[in-house]
Amino acid sequence: MTLQPLLPDILQAVMKGQSRAQQDSHYPGWHLAPVTGLLNDPNGFIHFQGRYHLFYQWNPLGCQHANKCWGHWSSPDLLHWQHEPIALMPDSEYDRSGCYSGCAVDNHGMLTLCYTGNVKFDNGERTAWQCLAVQNAHGGFDKLGPVIPLPEGYTGHVRDPKVWHHQQHWYMVLGAQDQQKQGKVLLLRSDDLMQWQPLGEIAGSGIGGLGDAGFMWECPDLFTLDDNDFLIVCPQGVAREETRFLNSYPSAYVSGELDYHRARYRHGPLVEMDAGFEFYAPQTTLSADGRRLLVGWMGVPDGEEMSQPTTAQGWIHQMTCVRELSQHNGKLYQRPIRELQGLREDEQHWQGLADDAPVLEAQSLELELASQGPIMLNFADTLILTWQSDGLRLARLSRITGEWQYRYWPGDVRELHILCDRSSVEIFINGGEGVMSSRYFPVHPATLALSGGTNLRARYWSLRSCMVE
Ligand code: FRU
Repeated sequence: MTLQPLLPDILQAVMKGQSRAQQDSHYPGWHLAPVTGLLNDPNGFIHFQGRYHLFYQWNPLGCQHANKCWGHWSSPDLLHWQHEPIALMPDSEYDRSGCYSGCAVDNHGMLTLCYTGNVKFDNGERTAWQCLAVQNAHGGFDKLGPVIPLPEGYTGHVRDPKVWHHQQHWYMVLGAQDQQKQGKVLLLRSDDLMQWQPLGEIAGSGIGGLGDAGFMWECPDLFTLDDNDFLIVCPQGVAREETRFLNSYPSAYVSGELDYHRARYRHGPLVEMDAGFEFYAPQTTLSADGRRLLVGWMGVPDGEEMSQPTTAQGWIHQMTCVRELSQHNGKLYQRPIRELQGLREDEQHWQGLADDAPVLEAQSLELELASQGPIMLNFADTLILTWQSDGLRLARLSRITGEWQYRYWPGDVRELHILCDRSSVEIFINGGEGVMSSRYFPVHPATLALSGGTNLRARYWSLRSCMVE
């Protein structure tokens, strides 16, 4: 069977769609977003031979979750990005229902992609292959085909390989669902990326002291910071609690110690990565100077995503800003990378009662706030942050029910660092101890009004746009 070539349709979709998306008042000025169609997970984030590469799940043909290709950007500095040739299209038998998420590695100087070939059958079943592709002299990628078939004991939901090098071997974590419909993370080892030896389950629902923790674990990422081994994962089906795990699916991590020889991972409880309305499928890599960087999808599957108004302009979703990770006592901290300071225009200051603060222009804003609270931050009457003595509450109007919905960050808040870019707000709490990332769709030009009878100190900047070339 020959598959329908996608390229002519993709080209036409980009030619027709790009200017429409970019004229949308909600299109980001400096976050990465699709030129047209739907973007979801970041893939293949790597620093390779002097440049950063970031790939992404992309449906160039529409705003639905279909036709998943790998789009590709590169950058010398994480600030100025350029478009690269589309890296993968679902045009082979083994990836015909989508080139799903995965990673990139430097294999002896060859930029090599490791991704999931997803295959759906007419009877509703599916299978998955873990596949390789290698960069060619033209900057595109040549597929090498599948290297790992569906492992026994699991359903067709096995995907999202993340590969790293450790003590002369390649290791891979894979997201999986077992036959009992429990989410798991598998560990595998290889010497050449071609032959893989399964080492077992290292974490998941019902193991490692977690109890019932969901029916599928997607997008695992395992890395070491100082002496701690962190596993980031997206567990689907974790029970909602009063103040956490409130999105349709969360992104979470555990921290502990991985025994590579016995394939045993001793770890603590699941901690939510981001307490906002939109954050999912983050991926990390090392920077040129050894920092652990993270970028996430500022979206969540299976929630209210399709009610976002940008679909009328032919595009949907964006990435988060790139963040630097650090850890204190096994707890992950996230901060915007320092490179982003390159977007700042003139610095402004303000100090006094929140009620007397000037109304800020919120289209493209960086704001540092120090206070004891209580303060209210009203983003264009569409997104409202309340800073109280027991933590933060973020309220947003549902575009489906018209009701206010809430997200929470419980704890003592001393300072906030906020990044606004047209239709997104990222709130970093206490130097990165917590984060809340959310999309919102205000009438532009959006403003931010502060109120409250409390003193605050503010430093803020308007941020320059940074177009992808
Ligand atoms: C997460 C995810 C991955 C999958 C990809 C498909 O958002 O469902 O598990 O590989 O998206 O686009």
